[in-house]
Amino acid sequence: MQWNHKDLLTISQLNREEIGYIFKIADRFDEVNMRPVKKVPVLKGKSVVLFFAEASTRTKTSFDIAGKRLSADTFSLTKTGSSLQKGETLKDTALTLQAMRPDAIVLRHWSSGAADFLAKRLHCSVINAGDGRHAHPSQALLDGFTLRSVWGEDFTGKTVLILGDIAHSRVARSDVQLLTMLGAKVRMCAPRTLLPCGMRTWPVTVYEHLATACKGVDAIICLRLQLERQKAGLLPDLREYAMTYGLDFSHLQQASPDVKIMHPGPINRGVEISSALADASNSLVLNQVASGVAVRMAILYLHMTRETAEER
Ligand code: CP
Repeated sequence: MQWNHKDLLTISQLNREEIGYIFKIADRFDEVNMRPVKKVPVLKGKSVVLFFAEASTRTKTSFDIAGKRLSADTFSLTKTGSSLQKGETLKDTALTLQAMRPDAIVLRHWSSGAADFLAKRLHCSVINAGDGRHAHPSQALLDGFTLRSVWGEDFTGKTVLILGDIAHSRVARSDVQLLTMLGAKVRMCAPRTLLPCGMRTWPVTVYEHLATACKGVDAIICLRLQLERQKAGLLPDLREYAMTYGLDFSHLQQASPDVKIMHPGPINRGVEISSALADASNSLVLNQVASGVAVRMAILYLHMTRETAEER
């Protein structure tokens, strides 16, 4: 397949065939990641800037490892220690970085639409590593890749419950797009104050009660309570939230016997999920992290080796 996308901004820009192709390339890199020497020369001479204006452990580290395993040079810029702290704008920072001629910029930013804003202004590829509450496409791809390793290519007949702080979650928005494209049914469960406006247009079924939402589901994706994005007054208190919407083993009695538990991380243990369940044998949390490296290798490879229209 010829890769025609300059940027990765949302899942909605991809079709099912392209998602399948990313997974096939990620399979190859997954095999590289199992070797004693985990490095291939496919991006030798290319450079990637990791521009993370918001905190990250998993996404930043895995894009960094991904680039290095493909032999690209990777450079990190975070809010702390950069001129963003002196008030330099996103546009000026990005144009400054572009002048150094990187082949791709991986951007995490607190503002929804930040990646799209840069993609329209930069010649190099822009990979959205999470923008506000809008999108986190590489997370959705790694979630899909992780479930594919259990369910195979077609998710028809599978039901996935997304549980928790949906209002503030870019992961939820991207996961819904990807999971439905692969054939799964998606349910959502959250207190009303943590459901976004305009959800009626989403292809999901919404549940208010967790026990009912868990009936027959094949996977549950718990979301972190994003206290840093919440306005005061959305929840009475954390203890009550944990008692009403915190997932624990008792809820799994309602679910499919093979139910898988997922969480994009970081986890608030004892709040959105019990600590024991996060570490249980049916938890795929660390499989998601491992998938993240292979999927992000595939994303960098496809975007940084594509032929431009002029080259063709
Ligand atoms: N899932 C996720 O985006 O984690 P980080 O914030 O640690 O990158």
